[in-house]
Parts: sequence; C-alpha cells; structure tokens
Amino acid sequence: MSQRPNVAKWSPASWRDKPIVQVPEYPDAKALGEVEAQLATFPPLVFAGEARNLKRALADVATGNAFLLQGGDCAESFAEHGANNIRDFFRLFLQMAVVLTYAAASPVVKVGRIAGQFAKPRSSPTEKRDGVELPAYRGDIINGTEFTLQARTPDPRRQLEAYRQSAATLNLLRAFATGGYANLANVHQWMLSFVKDSPQSKRYQELATHLTDALNFMRACGIDPEVHPEMRTTDFFTSHEALLLGYEQAFTRVDSTTGDWYCTSGHMLWVGDRTRQSDHAHVEFCRGVKNPLGLKTGPTQTSDELLKLIDKLDPDNEPGRLTLICRMGADKVTEHLPRLIRAVKREGRNVLWSCDPMHGNTITSVTGYKTRPFDQILKEVRTFFQVHAAEGTYAGGVHFEMTGQNVTECTGGARAISDEDLNDRYHTVCDPRLNAEQALDLAFLVADLLKSQRQGRAKPVSVAAAF
Ligand code: PEP
Ligand code: CO
Repeated sequence: MSQRPNVAKWSPASWRDKPIVQVPEYPDAKALGEVEAQLATFPPLVFAGEARNLKRALADVATGNAFLLQGGDCAESFAEHGANNIRDFFRLFLQMAVVLTYAAASPVVKVGRIAGQFAKPRSSPTEKRDGVELPAYRGDIINGTEFTLQARTPDPRRQLEAYRQSAATLNLLRAFATGGYANLANVHQWMLSFVKDSPQSKRYQELATHLTDALNFMRACGIDPEVHPEMRTTDFFTSHEALLLGYEQAFTRVDSTTGDWYCTSGHMLWVGDRTRQSDHAHVEFCRGVKNPLGLKTGPTQTSDELLKLIDKLDPDNEPGRLTLICRMGADKVTEHLPRLIRAVKREGRNVLWSCDPMHGNTITSVTGYKTRPFDQILKEVRTFFQVHAAEGTYAGGVHFEMTGQNVTECTGGARAISDEDLNDRYHTVCDPRLNAEQALDLAFLVADLLKSQRQGRAKPVSVAAAF
C-alpha cells in the first residue's frame, strides 16, 4: 500500500484556500454570496442514506458482481427541460439496463448524468466570433449560450434555477422509478416510437418477449412477480461533475444519522479531467464528502499522479467509493490503460473501472460541428473490455453522453448519420450525444462484451496473454 499522507483538516470551505481552475468570473461577488447563502438553506436534493446505498451497490460492481450504467446529457439545459424529455431519457435508460442485466445475468446499477449536470469545463475561458471576444459558455447554471455580453456574463441567480430544475427532474425520476413506470411488465412499452422500425428495435422486442414469457412462466408456477418490489420498481441514482464548488458547498451537510459530511446535490459526484490536479480545489472538496466519487482519467494521467489521487480521494480503500472513469480515446486505450491498471493493482486498490468512450473521441466534422464517430465510440468500449480481460481485471461500467431524443449529433450508427446530416437535429448545448437508437445499439454491443467477460471470468484469463 502507498504511504498515507498526513491528512490535512477538511471543511466544506477548505477548497477556497487551494489553487483552482475553470472558475467563472462573477462580476458581483455580493450577489454570488447571497445566492450561496440562500442555497445553503434549501432542502437537500438527495438523502445521505441513498448515497450510501449507491456506494454499496458500486462496491458490488467493483468486486465483479454487478455492472454500472451511467449516462445522460453532457450538459442539462434550461430550455430542454420538460416532462417528455425526462421520460424519454428514463425509458431509454431502462431499456439499456434491461439489455445489460439480461446479458450480464447480474444487477445493473443505474446512475444518470441528470438532475444537477449543468456546469461545464471549457478549453478556453473566452470565445471569439467575427473579432468579438466574450466569456465562454460554461453551462446553464453559470451563463447563457447566446453570443451576447449579457448572456455570457455569469449570473448567480442561475444557480437557483438549476436547483429548481434539479428538484423537479429528480421528483419525476423518483415517480417513474417507484410509481409503476419502471415495472418490468412494461418492458414492451419502453420502446421509443422513432426507434420502432430500426434493427435494434427488433432485437429489443425479442428480448422483451423473452422477459414477458419468463414472467408469465413464474406466474404459472404460482410466483406473482407483482408482489416483489424488485419487479415493480427500480433504484435510480443521480450524478454530476462537482465543478461549481460554491454551489456544491452550499449543499454539503452533516448527515444526522452518521455525523458525516455528504454533498446532497446528487448521489455521486465526479472530478473532471481538467480539474483533477491533486493539490487543487476540486480534489480538496471531493475528498471530504462521503458520497461515492468518480474520477475522470485520460491519456495525460501518469500512474504516479493517479495513485496520489486515489490516496487523497479514497484513503481507506473503501469498495464503491471510487470509480475511475477512463476516457482515453479509442486509439489510446491500449497504450495507456494497461499501465494505469497495473499501478492500481500493484497497490491493491479497490477501484471500479468504467469506460467513457465519448470524451476522447470528439472531433470537428467537415461541416463544422463538434461530433463523435460512432465507430470510434464502439472501438473504445471494445478495447476497454479487451484490456481488462488481458489484465485479469473487471470492466465494471460504461459512461455515456446520450439523450432519449432523435438528435443527429454523433455520426455513424445503424442510420449512418453523415457529416451533412448533423445539421438536421443538432440540439446539444455542449458535447454531441448518442441518440436513442445509437445508445441502444451500444447497449447491445456492451451486452455481448459482458457475456464474453462472464464466460472469461469463469475461466480466468492469463494476465500475460495479450501484452
Ligand atoms: C464531461 O463528462 O462532460 C467532461 C467534460 O468530461 P472530461 O472531464 O472527461 O473531459
Ligand atoms: Co461532455
């Protein structure tokens, strides 16, 4: 085990004394302070006990007994907020989860990038158009997308709106998850209408028919699936990048049942690829809250830095605490993932390995859109599983940017969306998302990989085999 450093004192505000990057410049510090004080009086969005339940579920994933599906918008937007969008996202998510559960024959832990995923890191603090330079758009919780000085000036009141939207979204998600919508008996009804005539639809309907037959069989044997809450309801958790730390601090509360600090703006928080410096503010904030954490890790991450971060974020080596969300880029996985896996294994760290095949595969199309080729996304997931099989470790999860809407933002997939097609329905305010068809397609691919992983784990693969 690596040396435990002297642990410095932590408080919900201790991040304020550390270097920080990716912070918006609010022109009115007093107004910002007032909003943060107001947020601190608002009811929490999630309960600490739920975050603990998620941590337990993720511990099962880390030990190879479950699988993590995490996904949602790159950035939620105020304009796209509405019941239909939430419903379409949720039912797509349920479909994907069913496909994966069936293949893995083990539980799928469902975590949305939703109900709080608003703040975005940017590659440049400003954006230039036709000689005019304005602050970059940083997510609806901070400023607006419109290219005007007024819209781009960070406005703290947007944090109140983000809270309101998060609360409303979470309320509907909870209703869907426990109020009957997620009942497995509805597995046929979850198909989204525009996906109905696609090849994935046929595959999904076949699977749904198998499940319905199995439920009918159980009923015929005298077991009523309806009396089992597991069949009627599901656990659905929320997550977002802990980027806007003043907002996160306002929701950091002591859990009365344990006396521990939890950030109650979402169940799981992650540290982004641009803010993961081990001595900076974002890592400082996250190390002190007991929520399950994610850490994005990319090709620029050295093994030593990664181990230092693991020491800080998970000093007790607690299963379920830390998910390493790997976002290498399809062509860099074999170069960088094995060295990270080996370092983590050498130190005996209990992390959960998840694959984000989105953020390392972003390109600009010839038509000028930020896009991601579906083939590269597939390739990154496939390679991620191959590397884990070769290293004898468990590929525990996937992390996608996706929407239940019929958008044209990523190229390729069954409908072969071309560079020219991107213009049709390109709605994202930030990164390009998989549409429902592409997401379901990907779920079937992951299902096949999970089946192989399951078979491979029955007969452990030789670590030396492939490298
Ligand atoms: C994201 O998840 O939207 C993101 C910005 O990712 P990363 O930090 O991995 O670049
Ligand atoms: Co993104």
